[in-house]
Amino acid sequence: MSENYEEWLEFAKTLAVKAGEMIVEARESSNFVRDYKMHHELVTSTDIAVDQYICSCILESYPSHRILSEESSPSMDLGNIGEDIPVWVIDPIDGTVNFAHGHHHVAVSIGLYIGEQRILGVVNAPFLKECFWALKGSGAFCNDKPLAVSGAKELRNALVATGFPYQKTALTPIIERVSRILHHCQDVRRNGSAALDLCWVAAGRLDAYFESVKPWDMAAGTLIAEEAGAKVGYYLSHTATWPDVVNGEGLLVSSPELYNDLLVLVDLGL
Ligand code: IPD
Ligand code: CA
Ligand code: CA
Repeated sequence: MSENYEEWLEFAKTLAVKAGEMIVEARESSNFVRDYKMHHELVTSTDIAVDQYICSCILESYPSHRILSEESSPSMDLGNIGEDIPVWVIDPIDGTVNFAHGHHHVAVSIGLYIGEQRILGVVNAPFLKECFWALKGSGAFCNDKPLAVSGAKELRNALVATGFPYQKTALTPIIERVSRILHHCQDVRRNGSAALDLCWVAAGRLDAYFESVKPWDMAAGTLIAEEAGAKVGYYLSHTATWPDVVNGEGLLVSSPELYNDLLVLVDLGL
């Protein structure tokens, strides 16, 4: 393991904690305004401020690194992610709708990639006072407690999380998948933060999670889930231009023994 990894992990944790403080302060003082991307996707001034804060700290400390962040650099060409350059993948607020509605299920997500490898992930949930993190090959943790997936084996006892896109035209197949899950599993959760859904699979609070998401939604949480023993795979073939390692299209993450049965349920053959 590169000696830089530990340093980068501490750096990411410090950023995520500071960003979390900004989020809590903005909400407690109601000091934010709402806007809409593409007319339907909520974004607040706090999403932008936190994004700018994280990106400026990265640029200052590691000017040679690259950044893919939801609000300030969402379309970076990651075609050369295969090169040896560290790439930070940032979601400043995952759970913006929750943030704006006064809910607590909100997180800052910071992932780091080199080439086709997930190096580290930090997901800090400031209202819940839980910081999840993982370093490749070193396990996954929540506030320094080791995490492990639930080990659930049977669909009928499985609690499965998912999410819905802002784009309403994409809902029909998702509702069919949710219907199949509801018919075969214990229940469904829609908690409103993909990054935390992945961490909750890692913590054994959920048995599985599936959704089509963007790289910044899954960059950190996927490594945390993997390091806690989850199986990570896909129920859709990859059509987006993102490199495979940050592809969130048709993401299925679960306790390993459940994976194949869940894949049969959510794969509509599309
Ligand atoms: C959203 C959340 C949500 C998921 C959506 C994401 P945002 O991210 O992760 O749980 O269902 O697909 O877009 O917009 O709050 O950063
Ligand atoms: Ca997100
Ligand atoms: Ca976001």
